[in-house]
Amino acid sequence: MSIDVRPSEDAATYLATDQLVWFGEVTDADAEHLRLGLPEDQRFVVDLPDGPDDLHSGIYGVRPMEMSLPGGALVAIAGLTWVGVHPDARRRGVLAAMMTDHLARTRDAGTALSALHASEAAIYGRFGYGNAVLTHQVTLGRGTTFTAPHLEDEAAAITTHLLDMAAPGVTERMRACQLAAAPDFPGTIVGSPDFFSLMAHEAPEQLRDKERRRILLARRDGQDIGFTGLRREHKWENARPSGTVVVGTLCGSPAARLALARRVVDLDLMGTTKLENLGLDDPLLGWIGGPRSAGSLQTWDSTWVRLVDLEAAWPLRSYEADCDVVVEVVDRYAPWNAGRWRLTASSGIGSATRTDADAELALDIAVLGAGYLGHSIGGLLRAGLVQDHRSGSYAELARAMRTLVAPEPSIGF
Ligand SMILES: CC(C)(COP(=O)(O)OP(=O)(O)OC[C@H]1O[C@@H](n2cnc3c(N)ncnc32)[C@H](O)[C@@H]1OP(=O)(O)O)[C@@H](O)C(=O)NCCC(=O)NCCS
Repeated sequence: MSIDVRPSEDAATYLATDQLVWFGEVTDADAEHLRLGLPEDQRFVVDLPDGPDDLHSGIYGVRPMEMSLPGGALVAIAGLTWVGVHPDARRRGVLAAMMTDHLARTRDAGTALSALHASEAAIYGRFGYGNAVLTHQVTLGRGTTFTAPHLEDEAAAITTHLLDMAAPGVTERMRACQLAAAPDFPGTIVGSPDFFSLMAHEAPEQLRDKERRRILLARRDGQDIGFTGLRREHKWENARPSGTVVVGTLCGSPAARLALARRVVDLDLMGTTKLENLGLDDPLLGWIGGPRSAGSLQTWDSTWVRLVDLEAAWPLRSYEADCDVVVEVVDRYAPWNAGRWRLTASSGIGSATRTDADAELALDIAVLGAGYLGHSIGGLLRAGLVQDHRSGSYAELARAMRTLVAPEPSIGF
């Protein structure tokens, strides 16, 4: 049975379907959350003939976003979000139909890449998304020392300033900082101005007893050069203040991040700093002397990347090693990518061309998504998750795709 996916015409039903899927507290702020950063023409729905009367059987949405790639290019991506299927309609192929629809629409719009944050790790691999970025969550004690001798002069010239994220002009300043820093931190995803407003939009019922999210801005010579978001949580233990400050993504140059990191581990009334979003090679781990200096360190999947249009996506990024391999690509949901490709990288420049030559290796399109931002995919061979026909061909591909520094995690969207 074919399942029809069409644009949403009714924001209230779209929202009510989402509220059922995510079963949180329903508040007046929800409509505002839908409005910000999810354009009306980027909301899609499924109504199964025997589905629920009052709600959609499935919904999804696309945020227009930009992502920085190895080499520094900032390209348009489809940020897949608001994915949900009515509990009565699950495991009947609604998501599969929505994914097929999303990939075709994205390709037709000339966008080569889709990206997402997954609610459950097992969902998106089958649709050709690869886990392209890992993120560390690290806790540090108050007054943690950061050692970075070759950044000290630069860091000394930087001042940090605490602002209310919802104050006029603040999200615009944050976005400008992120756009400026993105080329040096491949994997950075920059949302639309509306998406930044969404991040700043915290209704009283969401906050309860929590502090509004603050922004710590880094400045040098009168210019904004970086920021991080933070929220302090009170706690008293044995009459001593031992609160936690929860810190979001650090944005800016390494010296700006050093200045920001020093400030967030030195806030009065706090005992612990929890940094929620650090890349695998984030300099902070070097500054503290490695993971054992952290109170705790956990690793999660951050961005999942999907090459919607392999031919267009392959040359958008640069490559740090050469390769020339013939790959049989398996792609069940974007058949225009399936088949044999000659993937090359030479002096940093990539090209993907159709070929009839014998395949040297075969892989699912999700593997190319996993390696697309520079995260190492070499270990998949050892793990027996990929196989090459010509020994060494997979290693050649994996080396070319890998970057010196692991990609930057993105802010959840
Ligand atoms: C995840 C969700 C969207 C799946 O929708 P669905 O319509 O039931 O999925 P489909 O019937 O199209 O399933 C397609 C395939 O994915 C598999 N699959 C679906 N959900 C899965 C899950 N949570 N974990 C693992 N596999 C899953 C199905 O078994 C099926 O496999 P098959 O192709 O081998 O038959 C739905 O369960 C849901 O709304 N969950 C709660 C909200 C959520 O997690 N949304 C994702 C936000 S990132």
